[in-house]
Amino acid sequence: MSATVSDLLLDWYDSHARALPWRAPPGASPTDAYRVWLSEVMLQQTTVAAVKPYFTKFTEIWPDVQALAAAPEDEVMAAWAGLGYYSRARNLVKAARAVAEMGGFPETEAELRKLPGLGEYTAAAVAAIAFGQRAVVVDANVERVVARLFAIEQPLPGARKAIREKADAITPDKRAGDFAQAMMDLGSSICTARDAKCLLCPLASKCEGRASGDPLRLPVKAKK
Ligand code: ADE
Repeated sequence: MSATVSDLLLDWYDSHARALPWRAPPGASPTDAYRVWLSEVMLQQTTVAAVKPYFTKFTEIWPDVQALAAAPEDEVMAAWAGLGYYSRARNLVKAARAVAEMGGFPETEAELRKLPGLGEYTAAAVAAIAFGQRAVVVDANVERVVARLFAIEQPLPGARKAIREKADAITPDKRAGDFAQAMMDLGSSICTARDAKCLLCPLASKCEGRASGDPLRLPVKAKK
C-alpha cells in the first residue's frame, strides 16, 4: 500500500519538527494542557519568535493553571504588555479561573470551546495537541497547504468549507496533535505564502498544486 499524506508528513515531522518551548518532541507524551493552551492563545495573531520570551516568562511566574487563576488580573495584563490584542489576556485570566474551578482542562473540543477566548482553532489545537483527540486544526498555514495539496480553485474565504473537509479527510486517528503541528511547520517553513519549496516537501508526490505547475497561485484570494 502506498504511503498516505499523514504517513509522509509524520515521517517528515519525526526528523524536522521545530524544537519549541511548548512542544513535546515527536512521539513523546504530550505537553500538559496548560502549556499548550497558553502557547496557542499567544500564537493567535503573533509570531513564534515574538511569543517565545513571553511564554517563558509566563510559565516561570505562573507554572500551572491554578497559579494563573490566582493571579491579580492587572499583573497578568502587565506581563502581557507588548504582545498586543489585550482581550486575549483578559480572556486568559477568565479561562484560567474557570479551569481551576473545574479542577482541570476539559478534554473535548466541544467543552474547550465553552471557555473564554477558545475559538474553533484553539479548541481543536488543545484537544489534539494536549489530549491526542482527533480534531481538525486549521489555521492560515494549514489553509494554504491544503489549498495547494488539493489544488482548490475556489477563492478564499468561500473555500474555507472545502478546505476544512479536505483537512478532515487527511487527519489521522493517531497522532492528530503531531499531524496538526507538522502541517503548521510545513506551512511556515516550506510551503510558504511567497515560496513553495517543492523539492524539500515531503508531500510533493501527492500535491495537485505542484502537478498543476503553479502552486504559488494557491490559495486563490477573492478580488476585493
Ligand atoms: N502556530 C500556532 N500554533 C503552533 C504550533 N503548535 N506549532 C507551530 N506553529 C504554530
